[in-house]
Amino acid sequence: MKRFIRSLLTSVRHRVKTETSRMPFESAFKDALGFIHRNKLDGDYIEFGISTGSSMVEAVHYAAHFGKHTMTFHGFDSFEGMPPPTGQDKEESWKEGDMKGSYESVTKRVWAHNYSVKFYKGWYTDTLQEKHTFVPRIVHVDSDYYTSAVEVLTFLSKYPLDGVVIMFNDWFHFNGNPERGEQKAFAEWCVAENIDAVPFGTYAGKIQSFILNRRKV
Ligand SMILES: C[S@@+](CC[C@H](N)C(=O)[O-])C[C@H]1O[C@@H](n2cnc3c(N)ncnc32)[C@H](O)[C@@H]1O
Repeated sequence: MKRFIRSLLTSVRHRVKTETSRMPFESAFKDALGFIHRNKLDGDYIEFGISTGSSMVEAVHYAAHFGKHTMTFHGFDSFEGMPPPTGQDKEESWKEGDMKGSYESVTKRVWAHNYSVKFYKGWYTDTLQEKHTFVPRIVHVDSDYYTSAVEVLTFLSKYPLDGVVIMFNDWFHFNGNPERGEQKAFAEWCVAENIDAVPFGTYAGKIQSFILNRRKV
C-alpha cells in the first residue's frame, strides 16, 4: 500500500512538473487576461519592447477571447532595435540595433485587430519621463537588458500596482543568473518599492509572470 501511494505521488509530481515546463509562450497571455477577467479588473495592457509586434498580437487575441473590448494597448519601443549595451549588459549580449522592428509595419499589424492601440516611439530615457494617462493592468517587459528593465520599473513606480500582472519575457537570459538582467532589476525594485510579487507562471522556459501588490507599511 505504502509503495502504491509513493508511486502515485511520484507520478503526480512528474506530471505537474512536465505540464508546467510545457506551458507554451501564448499561455502567458491567456493566463494574464484570464486572471483579470476572473477578478473583474479593468485597465490597460502596457508593453515595453515591441519589435515586430508578435507578443502584442497575442495579448490582443486573448483580450478578445475574454471579452475585454475596452482594454487599450500601449507599446514602447525605440523602433531602432537594441540600444548600445552598457555596464553588465555588455557581456554575452546583443549588438546595437538588433531586433529592430518597423514602426509602420507593426502599427498596421496591431491596428488591424480593431483595438485601441498607442505606440510611443523612442528610447525609454525619453518616453518614460512623464506619467502617461493609462492604467497599467498587464505589463509585459520584453527589452532584454538590465538597464532597460530598471528604466521600465522606475517608471511603473508612479502607478497604482495592486493586482497588476507583470510578465518578463527574458527572465532566463544571462544563464538565468539572478544577478543579471530582468531578474536583478526586479528583485531590486521589489525591495525598494515594498512590493510583494506572487509568482504566477513560467512559460516556454522563457517568460516569468508575477502578480504585484504593494506591502502596507
Ligand atoms: C526582444 S525585442 C521585443 C520583441 C517583441 N515583444 C516581439 O514580440 O516581437 C526587444 C525590443 O526592445 C527594444 N528596447 C530595448 N531597450 C530599449 C530601450 N532602452 N528603449 C527603447 N526600446 C528598447 C528594442 O528596440 C527591441 O525592439
